[in-house]
Amino acid sequence: MPPALPRHIAIIMDGNGRWAEARGMRRIKGHEAGAESVRTIAEECSRLGVEQLTLYAFSEENWRRPRLETEFLMRLLKRFIAAERETLIRNQMRFSAIGRLERLPESVRKELQKTVLATKDNPRTNLCLALSYGGRAEIVDAVKAIAAKVQSGQVDPKAIDEATIAAHLYQPQMPEPDLVIRTAGEMRLSNFLLWQISYSELYVTETLWPDFRIEHLHAAIEDFGRRERRFGGLVQRPAAM
Ligand code: IPE
Ligand code: IPE
Ligand code: MG
Repeated sequence: MPPALPRHIAIIMDGNGRWAEARGMRRIKGHEAGAESVRTIAEECSRLGVEQLTLYAFSEENWRRPRLETEFLMRLLKRFIAAERETLIRNQMRFSAIGRLERLPESVRKELQKTVLATKDNPRTNLCLALSYGGRAEIVDAVKAIAAKVQSGQVDPKAIDEATIAAHLYQPQMPEPDLVIRTAGEMRLSNFLLWQISYSELYVTETLWPDFRIEHLHAAIEDFGRRERRFGGLVQRPAAM
């Protein structure tokens, strides 16, 4: 039997700065090298038939970095999205973005919109970039939207349940991530998809994001295939019955 393929893989792409510093280069060189890994991994996910790949590319908290770095990241993002549009179309991939996108420069938002529109009917992997994204911010935004509906009488507060919250997240139709990969060894979530990953399998690798290649992705998927997911219940084992 082929190993179970995660429907949704989410990646905290960390370690670009360390990759560059280890080579005596400026941090921004690490971000450029990281963009190459995005291309490789997205294409491989599409080839494998993964339904969604969500990449944490820029957090709400990353705005705290020096302006030179955030400005460089925004320019890189704009270039990358424009350059990759054709590749996404060729691979029949969809494209989307989540986060407080209104904080992004207008020029970046334009490229995002163009790519979303150009790929919206494609049947293969949904490549979702988390940009100016924070898990807590997403929950706050959902609560605000629900509160507004309560105020206008569209939602009965007594009827609010988990499904109500889920339906007001940035991308309500996304399947919850099965596998969350973090590169560069840090054992934390850094405010990524807090609501959606409550039962995701976590995989942390020391490999820095610019070094992350197809074989590293395969290793993570194989490891995932060996996990026993219980969701709080018990796994049915015929021998034990
Ligand atoms: C991840 O790499 C990319 C972003 C957060 C934008 P870092 O820039 O965090 O790299 P390190 O953690 O400093 O090595
Ligand atoms: C998480 O990496 C955010 C992204 C990968 C975009 P950070 O480098 O920002 O996380 P911390 O600061 O080490 O927690
Ligand atoms: Mg980092």
